[in-house]
Amino acid sequence: MKTSDDKKRIETLKKEIEKHNWLYYVKNSPQISDEKYDKLLKELKDLEEKFPQLKTPDSPTQRIGTIPQDEFKTVPHVKPMLSLDGTIKEEEISNFDRRVLEGLDGKEISYVAELKFDGLSIELLYEDGILVRGATRGDGTNGEDVTANIKTIKTIPLHLMGDNIPSKTAIRGEAMMTLKDFQQLNKRLTLIDKQTFANPRNAASGSVRQLDSKITAERNLTFFAYEIMQIEGLPAKSSVAGKKLTTHQEEMEMLKEWGFQVDPHFKFCKNIHEAIQFHHKIEKEREKLPIETDGIVIKINELSAYEELGTKTRSPRWAIAYKFEPRKEITEIQDIVVQVGRTGKLTPVALLKPVDVGGVTVSRATLHNESEVKRKDIRIGDKVRIERAGDVIPAVVERIPATPATTTMAGRPSTETLAGRKTLTGRPATEALAGKPQKGEKRSRPFKMPEKCPVCGSKVIKNIDEKGKEGAYHFCSGGISCPTQLKRAIEHFVSKGAFDIDGLGEKIVDNLVDTGMIKDFSDLFKLGKDDFLKLEGFAEKSSQNMIDALQKAKNISLSRFIYALGIPNVGEHLSRVLAQHFKNLNNLIKANIDKLKSIHEVGPKVAESITIFFGNKNNGKVIAKMIDLGVKIESSSEIKAEKSPLKDKTIVFTGELKDFTRNDVKTLSEQLGARAASSVSKNTDYVVVGENPGSKFDNAKKLGIKILTEEEFKKLIK
Ligand code: IVH
Repeated sequence: MKTSDDKKRIETLKKEIEKHNWLYYVKNSPQISDEKYDKLLKELKDLEEKFPQLKTPDSPTQRIGTIPQDEFKTVPHVKPMLSLDGTIKEEEISNFDRRVLEGLDGKEISYVAELKFDGLSIELLYEDGILVRGATRGDGTNGEDVTANIKTIKTIPLHLMGDNIPSKTAIRGEAMMTLKDFQQLNKRLTLIDKQTFANPRNAASGSVRQLDSKITAERNLTFFAYEIMQIEGLPAKSSVAGKKLTTHQEEMEMLKEWGFQVDPHFKFCKNIHEAIQFHHKIEKEREKLPIETDGIVIKINELSAYEELGTKTRSPRWAIAYKFEPRKEITEIQDIVVQVGRTGKLTPVALLKPVDVGGVTVSRATLHNESEVKRKDIRIGDKVRIERAGDVIPAVVERIPATPATTTMAGRPSTETLAGRKTLTGRPATEALAGKPQKGEKRSRPFKMPEKCPVCGSKVIKNIDEKGKEGAYHFCSGGISCPTQLKRAIEHFVSKGAFDIDGLGEKIVDNLVDTGMIKDFSDLFKLGKDDFLKLEGFAEKSSQNMIDALQKAKNISLSRFIYALGIPNVGEHLSRVLAQHFKNLNNLIKANIDKLKSIHEVGPKVAESITIFFGNKNNGKVIAKMIDLGVKIESSSEIKAEKSPLKDKTIVFTGELKDFTRNDVKTLSEQLGARAASSVSKNTDYVVVGENPGSKFDNAKKLGIKILTEEEFKKLIK
């Protein structure tokens, strides 16, 4: 066969495969078997391997993910991504309608209503019909370039379908994970000892904002398109590839023609009343929907009204979100247990009689702290109203007192059915009674924080703030002699920003502590291959890998080391600040409160935390043991700061920089001994100005502060 024949075959295969993708994922009506589909894909892959020059970015073979990236590029949106005003009140919707009519001088309009997708907003750019970029919302003006990731989403066309292909267009929509996929993902994550997601939105967001697109590909995301943003050469929202678009309805038809999935519930509404009816209908069906939605969006149908009404700072005047009531359910508190965290903080957790709240079975809810439990007067055995705003873990809103005999008279429904009803327009009858003990009610004793830690038996202490006033939280005083504190502390110690030891998950850490192999951080570096072999799930190779990872991790920067220690209130950023200031660990250990407080960004609370931590002899011993076992704390970047022209300077960045992300310049400046501030003041030494600078630039000029271009900044740091 000639190469030109291969080229033709590749083109045919690409079109064919994308068509079957669309039939399967968007239309839900596959026309060929999986085997046939796989065969076509294999043929295309083989041809592309043979002729790599014929491989294009819009090939379906590109949907499987590419090599992991180091970071996401920041890219500007074609227009700012706005938010929506939202309400749960019908009255507010009528007000919105009134404002619209007033704004349009009584001109007649119609509405459209559709689901408000609770996922991650994405902007897609197409050039000559080919998908060239996908970006997250970011700060609304600039987003993260997640092209490689969103290409793995099968409901996003890599190539627009149909004959009306514009030279350039931007589409917006929502990347989502179905509830079923979300539950499966969490189950899988639990099995492999990884952190689960709180809700499908976080799961979708976590899956798209992945540096490794192969992981996104595994996550089975879907995409619903709801807006066409910009059409090259023509005023937005007027015409696409010669087709005049005057309504949102036509816009949705265009999106469908191009191969996008749009909301199947999408409804034309003659007036606001029909839109309100739509809300009520969907709210009733909500639990049966395969995806998470927290309301509907009502938009004006006539696109000409968009320009006329315009937008406020953050939201348009032509649309409003009509939200659903949060899901509420009533259940019983079977027990209140106390959980111990990494820093020893004790959190009361309610164990609930399992109840289905909008398709998710919930059996626990956090009660935050003792005062919260007291304020809500929640006790074991109480009936409580729990609310789930899309998260798996619900909040206990209030307790429902036992119904006094008088209120159940005259055929009135019991408290439970009343409170559980979602269609009540007024306040549920129970709310007026909520929290107030009823006559004759027999209840268990009020909850009290235990005096001893439920895990290790150490004394429980209450935190004291800088003015000597008691705070809201209780702590176990056992430190790392408390097994749970130790487990959580070790998890933090090996986490990404700290020693970064891959593969040491929660279950392994629990095992290492429970079997007594680890009693403090230093024991990690004493572990041998045989120790891991004793643990469940470890074989020769995996044990050796762990040992190698631990060995490699022994060389660590001072800032990471400080962070790994898990000093309360000292996060990654402060760890860097401290590392730069003190240069070596000894200086930090020796520093008293006043010295610590003299550092910019170190407040009294942090200073106290640090002195308490290093004042504890045991912590000193553990650090010494680690150093004996070969842990080397490097302060190379901090030493670099000594000779740096930015040493002790305060620097502010504004506008878009060509070669750096915001995080880059912040970290870099800190490594060079400077402080990256967020606003300009007379104490600012330099303001680095990129493209489209903000008001910081004007302030800098006003205050006569030295202004640097990106190039000048680069020269300075060289
Ligand atoms: S139209 C203001 N339609 O919700 C721009 N947005 O909370 C109007 N969203 O920023 C966009 N479902 O990211 C539109 N059917 C829908 C939507 C939707 C979810 C997102 C969108 C918006 C956010 C506001």
